[in-house]
Amino acid sequence: MTAKQSVTVIGLGPMGRAMVRAFLDADVDVTVWNRTAAKADDMAALGARKARTVAEALDANETAVLSLTDYPAMYDVLGQAPDRLEGTTVVNLSSDSPEHARQGAAWVLDHGGHYLSGGVMSQGDDLTHPDAYLYYSGPKELFDATAELLRPLGRQEYLGDDQGLSQVFYQAELALFHAFLIGWQQALAIVDRSGADFDRFVTAATDHPNSYRDFMRAFAALAERGGWGDRASFAMMHAGAQHVIDTSEALGVDAELTKTAQDYYRRAIDATEKAGHPVPVYRIVRGDAA
Ligand SMILES: NC(=O)c1ccc[n+]([C@@H]2O[C@H](COP(=O)([O-])OP(=O)(O)OC[C@H]3O[C@@H](n4cnc5c(N)ncnc54)[C@H](OP(=O)(O)O)[C@@H]3O)[C@@H](O)[C@H]2O)c1
Repeated sequence: MTAKQSVTVIGLGPMGRAMVRAFLDADVDVTVWNRTAAKADDMAALGARKARTVAEALDANETAVLSLTDYPAMYDVLGQAPDRLEGTTVVNLSSDSPEHARQGAAWVLDHGGHYLSGGVMSQGDDLTHPDAYLYYSGPKELFDATAELLRPLGRQEYLGDDQGLSQVFYQAELALFHAFLIGWQQALAIVDRSGADFDRFVTAATDHPNSYRDFMRAFAALAERGGWGDRASFAMMHAGAQHVIDTSEALGVDAELTKTAQDYYRRAIDATEKAGHPVPVYRIVRGDAA
């Protein structure tokens, strides 16, 4: 018989609370701490133990999962009991830049702890969604030793030793996600404002999700060769963007996102004319086209 597993969860926003529920559902003993104590009371009602202090939370278990707004919050919290980090494995699943993750890891290591960084790719705070997964990076032996305990949080993608790597992948995916979500809301607003059948549009537009996957793969292959397009295709995209802008603005819908996209094609046209050969948008985004 294996001993019951146990973990500390620090940070009880929507994501931290989802993590506590996932651990409890998997029969893991959970100790919680949160700056705003009332959120810990809610988790205690579900079966978690409430630590009164950060020190008590860190003492309770070998592994502490952090789900905080960002890395400054980690220093605010763990800085209350840095002497309790000795021997503790900190798994920080908070979002921040790769460099902040590397610095955070070094800070915990300096205090005698072990460290894994991670990023949660979920549908909102729904860790049970079949497409939810987590990126992890840090020492492989530590990941292997912790993987079983962390399994209730979802599918694991271990990326490598570099503590910043999980945030490289995580922030790269969010770069796409931000543009995608604003673009989708613009699309919905166009249909809504036009008085067309909203539900029918949603059904039609979500019925071909693989086309985005195929574009992603095709553009990744092209990016490895410098990017997609020539002057004619940039001009075609620029003109097409204008039609989206015209459609949006005639309906009173905000078209700033499309104007930003259109500006990339303008810059690609200008750079292409100046260079005398195609300068794709990818080179502009990548920062290697003057
Ligand atoms: N929610 C999602 O859908 C989602 C999805 C994927 C990834 N994530 C990422 O997961 C992390 C947590 O998400 P969340 O939605 O739960 O975030 P959140 O609502 O921002 O709350 C996170 C926690 O951070 C604490 N906190 C913030 N600043 C603090 C400070 N200076 N000192 C002490 N505690 C502090 C909050 O404490 P208080 O309760 O006292 O304010 C709260 O417990 C974020 O990095 C987020 O980007 C979230």
